[in-house]
Amino acid sequence: MKILFRTIPLVALLSIGSSSLVYAVDDVAATKHNLSSTQTDKVNNLSTEATAFVCGFCHSPHTETGGPAPLWNRGSSAATYTMYSSATMDMTIAGAPASISLACLTCHDGTVGFDQLINGAGSGNYVAAGADQGWTFNLNGVPTTDTMPTGVTNLGNVLTGDHPISVTYDPTQDTAFQSVASVQAALQLYGAGSDQVECASCHNPHEATNPTFLRVGIDTLCTTCHIK
Ligand code: HEC
Ligand code: HEC
Ligand code: HEC
Ligand code: HEC
Repeated sequence: MKILFRTIPLVALLSIGSSSLVYAVDDVAATKHNLSSTQTDKVNNLSTEATAFVCGFCHSPHTETGGPAPLWNRGSSAATYTMYSSATMDMTIAGAPASISLACLTCHDGTVGFDQLINGAGSGNYVAAGADQGWTFNLNGVPTTDTMPTGVTNLGNVLTGDHPISVTYDPTQDTAFQSVASVQAALQLYGAGSDQVECASCHNPHEATNPTFLRVGIDTLCTTCHIK
């Protein structure tokens, strides 16, 4: 079998990434987001050819149009979510998780298999809705099904106990917040207006220098946005 991933688009993907200063130091292979067969403590029963491509669990050079994150290679979750709500919130929260957060939830709501891929390994293995590759996983040395095991990394679909996501960052609604520009300089806001707080505003899925993939240290993360 040939390896699926063609050289030119992958090189292009990598060079776009490395033009960013933050991305230049990322090393996803050294994190818990490396689900490939190079991580023998996490994954078993996988052919090296099929799964040596670390990025392929999330991205493919050829995949659906307009997935939740760039070149997204994962089947979507069918879950409906209950969003955070509180009487003291001033900003607008969407009725459902948007784009980048849905991408995380394709693993972290616990309903979609890690191996539910749109463009699976090998020639002609393209299924627009995503297809179960039939691989088995061995998370942290514990054999598991192919979905997120119960525990703190499985957020489920009730997000009322999780920091608000898909909320429009707007300090004019609440003066106890830093300026949009200062947040954008340190973290990442998403959406057409570059003003949406999503999972990946706080977490960088590619790098775990800071524990739990945080974009900045836990000592300064909260006050990068909140004036408290
Ligand atoms: C566990 C899932 C996951 C894996 C594995 C993964 N990514 Fe990503 N990637 C994401 C998500 C989610 C986003 C969108 C959020 C963001 O902006 O970082 C993203 C965004 C990107 C972007 C655009 C934004 C940026 O940071 O430049 C590039 C380029 C990228 N990934 C490349 C890669 C490459 C190359 C690999 C393999 C070495 C890889 N990714 C592995 C989840 C993943
Ligand atoms: C391909 C599936 C997949 C996707 C997509 C994914 N993750 Fe994960 N993530 C995992 C797995 C597997 C673990 C390890 C879980 C465990 O050991 O319990 C993990 C662990 C984590 C952890 C805990 C790390 C630690 O050290 O305890 C965080 C935080 C996290 N992911 C955030 C995210 C965010 C934010 C996104 C989207 C930007 C995302 N993940 C997308 C599979 C995924
Ligand atoms: C406002 C910032 C912020 C947002 C938004 C956010 N997180 Fe987190 N997340 C954190 C912090 C901080 C921690 C580490 C908490 C700790 O050290 O106990 C964390 C921890 C986690 C963990 C690991 C829990 C553990 O203790 O091992 C996972 C998994 C996770 N986040 C996933 C997500 C997902 C998925 C989303 C979107 C649905 C999300 N996060 C949105 C800040 C955020
Ligand atoms: C990327 C910016 C950002 C970061 C980083 C961030 N927050 Fe928030 N946080 C927000 C926004 C925006 C809201 C919604 C505020 C509103 O509507 O009034 C919010 C809401 C909250 C709320 C709910 C307030 C309410 O009225 O119900 C709490 C509590 C909170 N954040 C705590 C934290 C903590 C603790 C951290 C660090 C782990 C953190 N936040 C990091 C942007 C952020």
